Amino acid sequence: MTPGPRAVALVAGAALLTRRALRRRIKASPLWPLPALDPPVSGRPRPRALRLLLTAREAVADGVVQLRLEGAGLPRWEPGAHVDLVLPSGLVRSYSLCGDPADTSSYTVATRLVTDGRGGSREVHQRLTVGTELEVRGPRNRFPLVDAPSYVFVAGGIGITPVLPMLRALPDGTEWRLLYGGRTRASMPYLDRLRGLAGAGDGGRRLTVVAGDEDGRPDLDALFADVHQGTAVYCCGPEGLTAAVRERLPAGATLHTERFTPGAGAAGDTEFQLELRRSGRTLTVPAGSSVLAAVRRVLPDTAYSCEQGFCGTCRQRVLEGEADHRDELLTDVERTDSLLICVSRARGDRLVLDM
Ligand code: FES
Repeated sequence: MTPGPRAVALVAGAALLTRRALRRRIKASPLWPLPALDPPVSGRPRPRALRLLLTAREAVADGVVQLRLEGAGLPRWEPGAHVDLVLPSGLVRSYSLCGDPADTSSYTVATRLVTDGRGGSREVHQRLTVGTELEVRGPRNRFPLVDAPSYVFVAGGIGITPVLPMLRALPDGTEWRLLYGGRTRASMPYLDRLRGLAGAGDGGRRLTVVAGDEDGRPDLDALFADVHQGTAVYCCGPEGLTAAVRERLPAGATLHTERFTPGAGAAGDTEFQLELRRSGRTLTVPAGSSVLAAVRRVLPDTAYSCEQGFCGTCRQRVLEGEADHRDELLTDVERTDSLLICVSRARGDRLVLDM
């Protein structure tokens, strides 16, 4: 969506405004919040889209920046929820909300700079300045806090962001432990807040901080030593950490994980033949590969962004075969002839795309 002259003027002037003045503008402007993207053409709604203003950015640890995005009457969210930011370049990235769920005037997210990543975090760290207007989709929650008799949280690095609002939401007296790991203490955001939340509960054993350069690897066996039947174990962090937690998960505990980037393949995926009719190529898409990955091996310029089925960049027309849709964007009508190749697959053994 191209911003109108009023939006352009608002953004250009925003960098010069104080936060209070920005808030006054946001509340007074008819631009906030903007309506959703195209209206749905079937009963299934699209994810909501808002235009929010970046009103504060703060370094909260080495290589970690916290952003406050303001609007008015923002949708409420539950701990574990995330939003998708559409960056000025068009890249779409998901970030867990780590502020106050009751605050309907702003969303807070934090992101770690990944210098050898795909470019999203570099853009956030290097190009997003106060006064930037961003399209924000969501919030959505794939990592909800369930009712349980007790909780164990395991967070690695920036994986602490969804855990922070979960801890705040737990009723007084809830039994919980958190193991929070990172490369160094200086790289770990929100340590003071976590110490405040942990207080002296459970004899001061609620919070274990493991900085790799001082303490080595986290001792998961010790963490799980006295886990009870029904304990909910929440893990958010690098794949290696999640795999280690899964391996050591005590019987009777339930594991809850969050992963923004789809894995190589879901259980039950099978290989199929993919014909790219305009290019005259036929490929095999293995069980452990996405269609996008297979296509990019022969058509490396194929457009994509989020790789999670919510931005629509990778949409392609289906000419033959039945699609197994796994995205969160296309409406039922759009699904009759289109496929988001980053997440969706073939339901049978052959699919033909118009590319
Ligand atoms: Fe975003 Fe496929 S790359 S939906």
